[in-house]
Amino acid sequence: TPAQVSVSIDTSHPGDVIQPAVEGQFAENLGRGLYQGIWVGPGSSIPNTDGYRNDVMAALKKLHVPVIRWPGGCFADTYDWRDGIGPAAKRPRRINGNWGGVTDDNSFGTNEFMNYSERLGADAYVSLNLGSLPAHTSAQWVEYMTSDSDSTLAQERRANGRDKPWKNLKYVGFGNELWGCGGDMNATYATELFKRYAAFVNPAPGAPSFVKVASGPHDTQYDWTETLMKNGGKQLGAISLHYYTIPGDWEHKGSATGFTRQEWATTLSKARAIDGMIARHSAIMDKYDPDKKVALYVDEWGTWYDQEPGSHPGFLYQQNTLRDAEVAALTLNIFFRHTDRVKLAAIAQMVNVLQAMILTKGDKMLLTPTYDVFHMYIPFQGATPYPASVSGPEYKQGDVDLPMVDVSAAKGTDGKLYLSLVNLDPDRAAHVVTGLKGAATGQILTGPKMDTHNTFNAPNTIHPMAYSGKMSGGKLSFDLPAKSVAVVAVTQQ
Ligand code: AHR
Repeated sequence: TPAQVSVSIDTSHPGDVIQPAVEGQFAENLGRGLYQGIWVGPGSSIPNTDGYRNDVMAALKKLHVPVIRWPGGCFADTYDWRDGIGPAAKRPRRINGNWGGVTDDNSFGTNEFMNYSERLGADAYVSLNLGSLPAHTSAQWVEYMTSDSDSTLAQERRANGRDKPWKNLKYVGFGNELWGCGGDMNATYATELFKRYAAFVNPAPGAPSFVKVASGPHDTQYDWTETLMKNGGKQLGAISLHYYTIPGDWEHKGSATGFTRQEWATTLSKARAIDGMIARHSAIMDKYDPDKKVALYVDEWGTWYDQEPGSHPGFLYQQNTLRDAEVAALTLNIFFRHTDRVKLAAIAQMVNVLQAMILTKGDKMLLTPTYDVFHMYIPFQGATPYPASVSGPEYKQGDVDLPMVDVSAAKGTDGKLYLSLVNLDPDRAAHVVTGLKGAATGQILTGPKMDTHNTFNAPNTIHPMAYSGKMSGGKLSFDLPAKSVAVVAVTQQ
């Protein structure tokens, strides 16, 4: 018998608007994320436009990607932007020391990234190299991208085929994981470095301003947040937070497919742990910034499993199943509850890396269940969230104990009320009764198995299906199957 769940939505206490950027993407020069994933080059036999894969570009356009973070990740603090400009044939070949030790030809560089994000209608979030290059180099990079003058750098951009500066550089990251791959620094040193670089890296005269993002903590690294907030200075626009959902530990992360019930439950429980971390980082931020001028950007999040057996070491290629869809939905719902601080987030990563939207193999492409969730969640971009309280049974598995159903509610920019309903239980359906009256239609994502996923031979195995609620006993209610994510628009009576 289905579990009885009731939901009440409090429209009298709206939260801050859900910034579209919380549905952002991270695209590092890692594995087949850029090369083969979005970029095949103009000479490729894979259908492309100016070197960009047509299939991937079309799929991303449908996702309304608000922002893309590039070029890293750990790669950012090894990257010299000058390697990736000018005639492709003259660009140097460099070894990617972080990711697989492979050599690439730098054919995907600044112009290629900025043009790509512009074509997608996305803002650009560029991460500078603080770890291994001087501030002057970063200042010159920003001038190259943003100056409309006749400076030598602006002229160089024009000679490279781009007349006008890009207007979509909205976020600039000052290094990445400076406590780790970005230079193994301590928080005090990293904070001073942020201030020094931030003093010199500014938009060109007349160019739109951008948010200066300091490399922030991971997980529960609260002392890092404390130091940054205390001493970060006036330039600090946002601090980043990285959190990955790993079912096991770093040595044995667990398989992306073929996992147990316990691993399903542990994964969802670990994904939900970000809620408490955001709350605590936010509380520290509140101490130093009660007016909430500094934002928290969760600019790396998502599942991280053992990479697919047989895939190139260091490429972080993994399958993506219904479990990942649940992680995506639960995490976005958590972001919607922290809109006072979380103004941007970027899932790791967009194509072929970690919890990807899209996987490619040669000329083939598939959309993952995570893609489906992001697509279903488009109406939440720019929406006004309402608190939703859910009462019903717990979902228990071994030592894991979670609310069985998770709900998000928000008023979309079209004026409609949107609900997201997530059933975490892999075995039990729920009957969800709301306090609303009216009709509700939308889509649901579910599948017969916990690891239901698409393959290149069967790319349509899992995809969203039409879904609706019904009025029963004068209340709008939903029959929510086990292991499912639904998003509906409510037409209230
Ligand atoms: O997303 C993969 C890597 O994870 C990033 O390069 C790094 O920032 C993080 O540790």
